Amino acid sequence: MINFKNIAEDTIWIGGSDRRLELFENLFPLPNGVSYNSYLVLDEKTVAFDTADVTVADQYLENLKAALGERKLDYLVILHMEPDHCSQIANVLALYPDVTLVGNAKTFTMLGQFFPELASANKIVVKEGQTLETGKHTFTFVMAPMVHWPEVMMAYDSATGALYSADAFGTFGAVDAGIFADLYDFEKDFLDDARRYYANIVGKYGVQVQMVLKKAAKLDIKMILPLHGPVWRENIAWFLGKYQKWSTYTPDEEGIVVFYGSLYGHTASAAEAFAAKLREKAGCDVKVFDVSKTHSSKLISEIWRVGKVVIFCPTYNNGIYLPVDALLHDMAALDVKNRTFAIAQNGTWAPASGKLITEKLSALKNVKIVEPMLTIKSALHEADMEALDAFVAAVVEA
Ligand code: FEO
Repeated sequence: MINFKNIAEDTIWIGGSDRRLELFENLFPLPNGVSYNSYLVLDEKTVAFDTADVTVADQYLENLKAALGERKLDYLVILHMEPDHCSQIANVLALYPDVTLVGNAKTFTMLGQFFPELASANKIVVKEGQTLETGKHTFTFVMAPMVHWPEVMMAYDSATGALYSADAFGTFGAVDAGIFADLYDFEKDFLDDARRYYANIVGKYGVQVQMVLKKAAKLDIKMILPLHGPVWRENIAWFLGKYQKWSTYTPDEEGIVVFYGSLYGHTASAAEAFAAKLREKAGCDVKVFDVSKTHSSKLISEIWRVGKVVIFCPTYNNGIYLPVDALLHDMAALDVKNRTFAIAQNGTWAPASGKLITEKLSALKNVKIVEPMLTIKSALHEADMEALDAFVAAVVEA
């Protein structure tokens, strides 16, 4: 069913939402679905920005054809070559063989790798600051390398003030009530998904995001059109502020998260007792997560949200309990930094996880590790309350 939405006088959203896909990149859970955005501008020349994922291909192609009507497509701008946006390029060329593809040199290297059959397609290769004029609109290209692929670029439309931002400013979550962020209660409906998307997809590349934000500060941005999630036309400064925090690894909120791994419940019980005491003393939000039952993308997102992380971990095979070890691996891969950590280890005969976790956390940049760690021998008992209180006090003071 045709389902496109007008964004401005001659600018149309022609993407699609997918609520069936379980895992984005076959990795990240999508409880609220995901949208793949594509945009079409019907100027004297027609220009589309990106295609869409194969899962919404029928919707995308139907929207593209319907929105164009009798007109042909003159330009297809490729802002990003990841397959969730480029999968339909060959199909667009099959429908509109005279279309000219617009990208940078790296775009076309990747195009050749994904679609060698498109070698003879019409192409325009653009660089930073070059423009594409389509009549009333002039699109200026802004390179955004490693946000989060090397070929990524954005396009700024001086006629509407629209920034076509590629993956930046995107979020997990299907769009339904409308295409604009101000039609939702964004903080309630999308913020957790937006942070989870940022931290896990783009989080490693804070320096590169900072470079793009500096370029964006020079533009008069009236709309942000990302490749996922709603379009921004109000409160843009608020969302830019979130990106400023996230890309500088600055916690969003005052709060503490407690992550535990637990085989039989003893470490979990200790973590819950600790969190209850911490809530009384810390005077801030404290949230507890079972690392075995919570997807690492959510835990990573929580680390981006708050400044302090407390890890309760059993010793397993003389090492770190595997779900906690996997999270530590993810943290290193995503370059987590500027956080305070505290560690509680458990071991029935030779507690060892604390030392190993300390070594891994110490390899992260600008982290503080609260000392001393708490050591539990099998289970926490009344006799351990003094040690637990001391650990709570150390975490509060850190
Ligand atoms: Fe939504 Fe990097 O692709």
